[in-house]
Amino acid sequence: MSERSDKPFIGRNISVVRDLSIDEQLYLYDQTRKIKRAILQGDNVDSFRSKDSDLGCYLVFLEDSTRTKESFRNAAKFHGTKVNDFDVKSSSFAKKETLTDTIRMLYGYSARSVFVVRSKLEGTCSWLHKVVSRYSELAGLPPASFINAGDGRHEHPTQEFLDEFSFLEQLNWNNDSIHLALVGDLFHGRTVHSKADGLKIFSSVQIDLIAPRELQLPPYYYKKMLDSGYSIREFDSIDEYLSQDSLAPLWYFTRLQLERMGDKVRDKSEQLRHAVSVRPDHIPHIPASAKFFHPLPRHGTLPTIPHFLDSTAFNGWDVQSMNGYFTRIALIGMVSGVLGMDFTGQSPVELDFSGEFLSDVPVTSKHKPSFKVGIKPVDHGLVIDHIGKGDSPQVIWDHIEKIRRIMDFNCISSHGVYLGYSGKNLKGIISIPGKATMDDSQLKILATIAPNSTVNMIENAQVVRKVRLSMPPRVYGIDSIACKNPDCIAFPDNGEFVDQEFIRYGDDAFLCRYCEKPHAYREIWRD
Ligand code: NCD
Repeated sequence: MSERSDKPFIGRNISVVRDLSIDEQLYLYDQTRKIKRAILQGDNVDSFRSKDSDLGCYLVFLEDSTRTKESFRNAAKFHGTKVNDFDVKSSSFAKKETLTDTIRMLYGYSARSVFVVRSKLEGTCSWLHKVVSRYSELAGLPPASFINAGDGRHEHPTQEFLDEFSFLEQLNWNNDSIHLALVGDLFHGRTVHSKADGLKIFSSVQIDLIAPRELQLPPYYYKKMLDSGYSIREFDSIDEYLSQDSLAPLWYFTRLQLERMGDKVRDKSEQLRHAVSVRPDHIPHIPASAKFFHPLPRHGTLPTIPHFLDSTAFNGWDVQSMNGYFTRIALIGMVSGVLGMDFTGQSPVELDFSGEFLSDVPVTSKHKPSFKVGIKPVDHGLVIDHIGKGDSPQVIWDHIEKIRRIMDFNCISSHGVYLGYSGKNLKGIISIPGKATMDDSQLKILATIAPNSTVNMIENAQVVRKVRLSMPPRVYGIDSIACKNPDCIAFPDNGEFVDQEFIRYGDDAFLCRYCEKPHAYREIWRD
């Protein structure tokens, strides 16, 4: 999203928080502040309204929702757009239509569309935005916006925006620093996961994670917070947290998402809930100026923030949920184009996929290497060397089998597991006589299956080219890759026929581009 237009938010995908740059998020909060003030003071709010009756705002909620759906509905009505509530039960899902087909069809029913989508499948909006953008480009129609209203355990960016707005409001719009306690089900809570990026609007961030082991923040989000420079402390329970002095002025509670938990964890729910629920005896130990927030819903009888606190000064969650309406008015205003013309900041930086996956190694000796006992010397052909170097024999054999299957090496060839020159590490070798070259697309596939291997290209008994492979920055367009997260839109059994795509993550893993689940590099292949 580097190119600027006078309406920079039209047709944007807001699938994760970072789909808006920090400048854009701050712009959203600024607009929300103006809208909230104008509405509460009864001022004329016409300049904020889109008044575009050709704009279709589709509420596609494939999971239950009260606040998110109703605040979006009211925000869309504020703008005077068409509001279409997509009825899942009476739709063609019952006839096994894919969500992808359904949305492509709905896109055709309005001159301009904004889709607000909640799904238990992670990465749904990223995929739908990609596929509908392709459709709109081909048909020469205006692009549609997709807004993620919560996708499985992944993210909930619009909740994040209203949460950050509420924190800023509480901190008198000062974004120098924040000290925030995150309490409850940090493992399943998508509103907590979105904080890893959302809190970046503050220059300095101190986070206290309060959750028993079973409900701890997933390592991916923990690392993201660390990488963003947040200072993080961890506590097992509110009791443990209160046994020290440095308490956060802002506390963000979440409910225990029992519906997403396995039986084992669910059986311990009473104990887990006890660790993260406020009790009357806690109150004297919490500063009277502290504010509590909660994305809601609360459990009716067993809430983590009990009802006796509703009419106390701790209650920040009522105003927070009201802020959902104002932030969503601002967001629809931005993606529909009535807001954003005066935005002057940075747009999101596109991810950089320019890194190389192969490097040529100088061929010092032109003579072909003698490839050990069992491998027939190759006069003309390929020798793939250093496969799985340093791994156990079992892992290297599996690796060799995988390379042969995926690369379709059903030809005269040989392979084996051998000791390397140093005599310390094992490695796999595949030798293929007769085939002396590999093009870049084949090398890229091989680099993805067997990073750190080398390929020797041998002609007339001489090595003519030697390349060392490393993990490509992005892997796509290969039939044999697939996301292994059953809750991802790209998981093949979910039947949406998604274009699989992975992005390099560290030295030995890939992230699914949709659900962002880390996969060890060996895991991305279909079984
Ligand atoms: C949250 C959600 O759905 O992720 N609620 C919300 O959108 N206001 C939190 C939850 O379900 O516990």
